[in-house]
Amino acid sequence: MNNVLVTGGAGFIGSNFINYILDERDDYNIINLDKLTYAGNLENLVLSETKKNYHFIKGDIINAELVNYLFQKFDIKYVINFAAESHVDRSILGSEVFFRSNVLGTNVLLEASRKFEVEKFLQVSTDEVYGSLDSEGLFTEETPLHPNSPYSVSKASADMMALSFHHTYGLPVVITRCSNNYGSYQFPEKLIPLMIINTLNNKKLPVYGDGMNVRDWIYVVDHNRAVKAVFEKGKEGEVYNIGARTEMPNIEIVKLILRELGKSEDMIEYVKDRPGHDRRYAIDSTKIESELGWNPKFTFEDAVSQTIKWYLDNEQWWKRIISGEYQNYYQTQYGLR
Ligand code: NAD
Ligand code: DAU
Repeated sequence: MNNVLVTGGAGFIGSNFINYILDERDDYNIINLDKLTYAGNLENLVLSETKKNYHFIKGDIINAELVNYLFQKFDIKYVINFAAESHVDRSILGSEVFFRSNVLGTNVLLEASRKFEVEKFLQVSTDEVYGSLDSEGLFTEETPLHPNSPYSVSKASADMMALSFHHTYGLPVVITRCSNNYGSYQFPEKLIPLMIINTLNNKKLPVYGDGMNVRDWIYVVDHNRAVKAVFEKGKEGEVYNIGARTEMPNIEIVKLILRELGKSEDMIEYVKDRPGHDRRYAIDSTKIESELGWNPKFTFEDAVSQTIKWYLDNEQWWKRIISGEYQNYYQTQYGLR
């Protein structure tokens, strides 16, 4: 059996990956290690939890004793590390947990992977490690790293550490750097679900700065199709950018959501900008397309409509979230509106 340790598998992207991979293949035995932070939610895994080749362990990747025990108990052959603190605004409010989970946690996984001689270690990273672009150009895998937020610095540190384990110990590491994801089960602190939920709740839509910061959007299913391609066919020691060539200024996305939900643009409120706000991200994904044959399948218009529909159909999922810790976060980040 192919025993795969998937970390952070109760979060937005990790849970989508597990649901997808277990649906596609039955020869992977998935061990999902997740701390269940505010962002982790086992409800995201209803499709997987009845499968015999799926196991959930609640725990922190920084816990070396637990991690070593799991490698031994499950004879782990592969690691896919999704686990991270993932929200830039939270890293600005307080950075320590970002360095603990994203840097030291990755170090624990790398050390165990070295000790137990895993056959592949996939580090799920982000385009934010490259920093910010002006109006021209794209991030390629050769673009120098220039992370600007505590979050992106922690991710860049983890990338470099993983590559150093390949260079120094020959650990078979591959890295993916993806652009902004959206889709079902995304925690409503991120732009798209936050704007959908505020619209549904008749709350103001807080747009940072002039609304003209640009992000490059990809449907989470396309991201995970790419993760699978890199996991199965990626060359060790290599980095693969993942993007769907869908650059958009934030304000256009917000207006699109309002249009889809039949609400007025009067709901938009321009608020104080995010400190150190990166202006533009845009990914060149030629390498993964030409070397691994991956291409995005979904158009932005279709997948955003599908995502909006999912939030309309799954009110109980997000209502439970926004009635918990989210209240405190929202109040600190935006004030009460
Ligand atoms: P998320 O915040 O939705 O989920 C993160 C998951 O990791 C949660 O289930 C959480 O409980 C778990 N976790 C956090 N710290 C942990 C720890 N110390 N030990 C064990 N589990 C821990 O994040 P996401 O949006 O699904 O992102 C997943 C990965 O993809 C992250 O590494 C992120 O940097 C990367 N990424 C995200 C995006 C995006 O647009 N969301 C884009 C590119 C890359
Ligand atoms: O690029 C990949 C990254 O995308 C991932 O590595 C991160 O984990 C993920 O959180 C995301 O980071 P961003 O900071 O780009 O995503 P966020 O959804 O927080 O913000 C997207 C844009 O929208 C950004 O320019 C800030 C803006 N924004 C965001 C929020 C939450 C607003 O204008 N208002 C808001 O309320």
